[in-house]
Amino acid sequence: MAHKEIDRLSGVETTGHEWDGLKELNNPLPKWWLYVFYACIGWSLVYYVLYPSWPLVSGYTTGVLGYSQRQAALDAVAAGQAARAVNGKALADAPLAKIKADPKLLEFAMANGKAAFGDNCSPCHGTGATGGPGYPSLQDDDWLWGGKLEDIHQTLLVGIRSTHPDTRQSQMPAFGKDGVLKKEEISDVADHVLSLSGKAPANAKGKQLFADNCASCHGDDAKGNLELGAPNLSDTIWLYGGTKEKVVETIANSRQGVMPTWEGRLDPVTIKSLAVYVHSLGGGK
Ligand code: HEC
Ligand code: HEC
Repeated sequence: MAHKEIDRLSGVETTGHEWDGLKELNNPLPKWWLYVFYACIGWSLVYYVLYPSWPLVSGYTTGVLGYSQRQAALDAVAAGQAARAVNGKALADAPLAKIKADPKLLEFAMANGKAAFGDNCSPCHGTGATGGPGYPSLQDDDWLWGGKLEDIHQTLLVGIRSTHPDTRQSQMPAFGKDGVLKKEEISDVADHVLSLSGKAPANAKGKQLFADNCASCHGDDAKGNLELGAPNLSDTIWLYGGTKEKVVETIANSRQGVMPTWEGRLDPVTIKSLAVYVHSLGGGK
């Protein structure tokens, strides 16, 4: 290191390192680079003191701030659960009618209801609640048992033809299987039903049969009866299908769709949330 040489061309001192006749110049580091470098060292020293950093034999230096990412995540979860408990309590106490008027409660109920729907209801009613043969769409404002918030809530609590002692219950007779009507009569009354939505010509015999056998549940005008879960037969919305074949099958064998009771299976707050969610999809009536 004793021997220092000045490069002839640039006038800069060399380091004395030489490779195949090339000599290394000893230029100083740029000032800006040097200051950034020192700043980084300063920053890291401060960081070591404040935050967890050095691994030890067992554990690590915790730093004077005592910060822990793990604890921060746990705290966030606990805070979320506490907020959920507060919202859940508020929802449990709120009368159904009041939920829609309170934006915070409504938001909580909707989010909660949507999640619970995906877990519990979509296997039968479809992911978008659009239903399928035998499983009613909950999107439209056409209801078997009523579309008011209280009606939906009650349907969820007790189910339909379920094991609940207060279940919603009604039984359309199996007119063919039980020998109440003959084959031709079933065909006539099916034609009458289809004529109500313009899918078949009027059938006088069928009309009389309807008045005698069906009007008690479906109504004189066939507009249905929410008390009995009897569907409106005069619209174009069909639960089991609106072809002659399907209607004949319904009349001959009856269907007796079953919806489980959710009381005891889901907690009251979840059932309330579901009622609010379903009502928001197509409620009203
Ligand atoms: C095992 C299948 C099944 C599951 C699961 C199910 N449902 Fe149903 N649901 C039905 C059937 C079938 C009907 C129609 C019964 C009938 O014919 O009256 C129905 C009817 C309903 C009705 C009444 C519709 C009306 O027009 O009055 C509502 C509301 C409803 N379901 C909501 C739900 C919700 C919310 C869930 C999830 C908690 C759910 N259902 C889970 C089968 C199911
Ligand atoms: C005791 C009441 C009752 C009587 C009487 C009754 N129904 Fe029903 N009907 C129902 C109920 C409840 C349903 C709902 C479906 C279920 O069982 O899941 C229904 C469903 C239907 C459906 C299916 C509608 C759809 O959207 O797919 C047709 C069609 C129908 N009834 C026609 C008739 C005809 C025709 C008669 C007379 C011959 C009749 N019903 C008598 C209660 C009754």
